[in-house]
Amino acid sequence: MHRSDHIFSFDVYDSINELAPEDASLLIEAQKATRFAYAPYSRFRVAAVAKLSNNKIVTGTNQENVSFPAGICAERVLLSSVSSLFSDGIIETLAISYDNEQGESDHPISPCGICRQSLQEYEQRMKHPIRLILGGMKGRIFIISNSSSLLPLAFTSTELK
Ligand code: THU
Repeated sequence: MHRSDHIFSFDVYDSINELAPEDASLLIEAQKATRFAYAPYSRFRVAAVAKLSNNKIVTGTNQENVSFPAGICAERVLLSSVSSLFSDGIIETLAISYDNEQGESDHPISPCGICRQSLQEYEQRMKHPIRLILGGMKGRIFIISNSSSLLPLAFTSTELK
């Protein structure tokens, strides 16, 4: 027997002012895009904004439904859009922000389990890491260099081959 360790490291910034200008702009785009969320049930508005390798910017927001399981998270709306719009939609960086009714959101959220699974497969498919910038409307920001690191021991498409 031996123990296997998974080391997970990410960068923590105290405020948006510490980010590189390009990263700060992408996070601001995500903050602004929360207004496009359709979240009348949770009132928790999430936006994911991607910068692609072709320099295009694509936005996804959560889209809820009165039949609650029919709702879809911002991250998966985003991945579906990129995949539908571009044959080689390589995502370099993905900024995720949110807002709710508790006042300005002041800490990062990270993708839910299903979205982690979708992000992992998208990275694998494009053979390119998706760098994540996670932040609320203010406060600390996390930067994670690849999405798959959020899902250790993932079930991947290689298992089906
Ligand atoms: N949500 C996202 O869009 N992304 C996440 O990473 C977490 C949760 C959405 C789903 C639902 O519409 C609302 O936030 C509350 O869970």
